[in-house]
Amino acid sequence: MSADAAPRGNRLFLKKSIEQVQRESESHHLKRTLGAMNLVLLGIGCIIGAGIYVMTGNAAANFAGPAVILSFIIAFLACVFAGLCYAELASTMPVAGSAYTYSYTSLGEVFAWVMGWLLVLEYGVAAATVAAGWSGNVVSLLANFNIVIPPEFTTSFIQAKTGSDGLLTFVTSGGANVLGAAGILMVTLLLVVGISESASVNNVIVFIKVGVLLLFIGFGLGFINIANWQPFIPENEGGFKYGVPGIFRAASVIFFAYVGFEAVSTAAAEAKNPKRDVPIGILGSLIVCTIIYMLVAAVLTGVVPFRELGVAAPIALAVDKMGIPWFALLIKVGAVAGLSSVMLILTYGQTRIFYAMARDGLLPRFFATLHPKFRTPWVGTLILGSIIAVGAAMLPIEILGDLVSLGTATAFAIVCISVMYLRRARPDLERPFRAPWGMVTPILGIFFALLMTGPLLLDMYAKATSGDPIPAYLLGGYLSLGALIYIGYGFWNSRLGKGLPQIDDDQGAGPGAEQAIAHGLGDGHG
Ligand code: ALA
Repeated sequence: MSADAAPRGNRLFLKKSIEQVQRESESHHLKRTLGAMNLVLLGIGCIIGAGIYVMTGNAAANFAGPAVILSFIIAFLACVFAGLCYAELASTMPVAGSAYTYSYTSLGEVFAWVMGWLLVLEYGVAAATVAAGWSGNVVSLLANFNIVIPPEFTTSFIQAKTGSDGLLTFVTSGGANVLGAAGILMVTLLLVVGISESASVNNVIVFIKVGVLLLFIGFGLGFINIANWQPFIPENEGGFKYGVPGIFRAASVIFFAYVGFEAVSTAAAEAKNPKRDVPIGILGSLIVCTIIYMLVAAVLTGVVPFRELGVAAPIALAVDKMGIPWFALLIKVGAVAGLSSVMLILTYGQTRIFYAMARDGLLPRFFATLHPKFRTPWVGTLILGSIIAVGAAMLPIEILGDLVSLGTATAFAIVCISVMYLRRARPDLERPFRAPWGMVTPILGIFFALLMTGPLLLDMYAKATSGDPIPAYLLGGYLSLGALIYIGYGFWNSRLGKGLPQIDDDQGAGPGAEQAIAHGLGDGHG
């Protein structure tokens, strides 16, 4: 349904027509060059980051113990079904868009806004999360050279602490994670001048990221102490601390480790044979990462007793325990390099989502203002980079990671709903790839998204009622702010609402967020 044809009463549910979206992305003439193997590698490159390098430790120490290995299977399933839905939408709308665009065409403006606001969690907050993990690994790396940064510059203002009852609570510290913030500011400046990480640099970094983990598994197997795996599922100590509830809670934490795979689906427009290659790309990269993740988790919990793993750089802790100095150094350099690239890609993605929303009039125009020389959305990049840096300085990885999982799982559910809606509303659309098993796949996608968000929300609620309301306040504040901005700005300025086309930026600012991720920022901008 086009903007003009939309009934006035349905203002909130105005939809962009698929033809309009295709026109808007006409500037990107993409070639079909990617085969199944390219797509699998591309997915692996986007997926591996702080989730495995950092959060597996917290998930094992505070929630699942060695059974975190099983949590990876649950989180994997939560991604597979949503991934197939992403693939269907991407093949139906083969444009350089993202889940934001899909929502605008299928469910309407208010859902597009919600999706855009959720994607801030998936990209902006995820960038802050990775920065927190990055700083922990930098500290550990510098320690090898006897360089010590005072902890008040590397610990977030709010800190996670295990209370006397053994449960995780949050307290304020005297410091701020200035190191993590500095990392974000560095990538922000690179993005302002328009660094475009070339495909080959991206390939090298993927190689390093995967190589480091494979070496960790290879060497680590010899250092496993079977006693550390017993009990495999520690007895529940209340709430989500261990036992079966802990396995599910840990799944919602390490769900973060899979964020990024949907980039494969947005490469559909460039796949040689999207019908076959995109599902192979999604399933293949998810399966490969799951196997790597489970093996890494097995080595981690086998080498270090799980209760000791709740540290900033658990893999670094494990390699230090192995007592091979050169190997420890190699692993830490690899972790820092890998996390730097994820930080860059996620921050880039965030700037491009706001760029797209500003062009649609849903956010102020300065988010789409291009630098006269660099052709980058520099004002938006500086503003967003600063906000992300403050987030990294103030908040601990435990809170940030939960917000990312929550936002991403909700976004996945909306994608599944979009698939169901479009199948009914537009059965005529050509779908080169159709998710298998009828409506079962999107329904399972929604079910697993709920399985990811449920334990997380229950835990947040339990904390709030036991005097630890910080995570709940943050979530409530974030959602309220989103609603206020839409009601106060987006609703009144929406280009679609006014019957106007998207704001034209003349030159474009590069590909959409997820597609940019798919390319490791490969085709740059301008
Ligand atoms: N999946 C990415 C990571 O683990 C976001 O860092």
